[in-house]
Amino acid sequence: MIDNPVTLAVLISGNGSNLQSIIDHIEQGQLNARIACVISNKPCAYGLKRAEKHHIPGYCVSHLDYTKRADFEQAMLDVLQEHKPDLIILAGFMRILSHIFIDQYKDRILNIHPSLLPKYKGLNTHRRALAAGDTHHGASVHVVTPDLDSGEIILQGTCPIDTDDNEQSLQQKIHQIEHVIYPRAIASYTQSGFNPAMHDPNS
Ligand code: GRF
Repeated sequence: MIDNPVTLAVLISGNGSNLQSIIDHIEQGQLNARIACVISNKPCAYGLKRAEKHHIPGYCVSHLDYTKRADFEQAMLDVLQEHKPDLIILAGFMRILSHIFIDQYKDRILNIHPSLLPKYKGLNTHRRALAAGDTHHGASVHVVTPDLDSGEIILQGTCPIDTDDNEQSLQQKIHQIEHVIYPRAIASYTQSGFNPAMHDPNS
């Protein structure tokens, strides 16, 4: 018997290559999910075009249209309420969410972060890994909690940092890793019943 697909809402701010990877995995039957909607806080985000091409409802909720963060978040919550996602997937979404938003979807928001957490929370992760002389870098999928980039890690992927790597080459390597681990992390987290304590990162 085939289980019901998990319903996702994907939040983006830009290119949406992770969104594309999730779409591709679904369309190729490698991820039992359906994307109910894509929300961007930037009107020009290329990810909205990707959504349109795949007939996924896309919304722009621009943070610039609101003076209060609570109102911006409520506008997103209103869209989400229409689509009732099981999981919210942050895929390059560049706004920090308040605990009020996060509490409404407790343990049901995932993020992908371009570092081997707990190293390099926040921005400029590739630059910081290079400056530290690290031999390895990577990406992490984690549960979103009110503390930035600090929730339980679902899955990580890693790559060596070569002597001739720069920020751009590292970014490309990390993107390739992200496109593999995000769909896998969504599948394993779904199989755990969205229970951070029960997921098996090796499954
Ligand atoms: C990814 O590197 C992700 O780790 C970070 O933002 C980037 C988004 O890339 N949070 P894309 O928009 O999915 O191409």
